Amino acid sequence: MSHQCCNLYVDLKSHIQRINFIPMVREILRFPHPILKKPTKKVDVIDREIRELVRDMFETMYHSEGVGLAANQIGVDLQVMVIDTTPRKESPPLKLVLINPEVIHSEGSLNYKEGCLSFPGLVVEVERNSKIQFKALDLEGEERTYELEGFPAIVFQHEMDHLMGITFLDRIKGLKKRLALERYAKLQKQRV
Ligand code: NI
Repeated sequence: MSHQCCNLYVDLKSHIQRINFIPMVREILRFPHPILKKPTKKVDVIDREIRELVRDMFETMYHSEGVGLAANQIGVDLQVMVIDTTPRKESPPLKLVLINPEVIHSEGSLNYKEGCLSFPGLVVEVERNSKIQFKALDLEGEERTYELEGFPAIVFQHEMDHLMGITFLDRIKGLKKRLALERYAKLQKQRV
């Protein structure tokens, strides 16, 4: 009897773990949500909550066919970003979890037509650095240094901006910005 009871306990335990580890697609906040304009806070401890956040960020990003996502885009005020360039042919596949990222060096310039999951349907040409060096913690809490070039560097800079409360609209000016805002307003109307 006791053996059966023990098996039942093991079954129940794995069942509960499975339930807890099912990744969730979370809602992506859209511009002009105020949280997108606020700089995020540093992560103090990489605990279970952060690991679950990262897992859900990947799930949410893949669900919307994005290549990068910042935590504040799903309403979490923390310096966490995920990147996965695998679906895009512009670069070799690269999957990263970056916690508390800090830019060390940047150089060169590159124009690229960017999209953003917080601005569904809008494409904006933005000037970015072509090379970027930065450090960040990984999910194990190890500090690592990265050097990215081209498309992955663009994705990183776009997400880094999000973590600082900046969107790609803040990277353009004048008529270009006004037209982008008009296009976005139209896209939002079509959505209703
Ligand atoms: Ni974005």
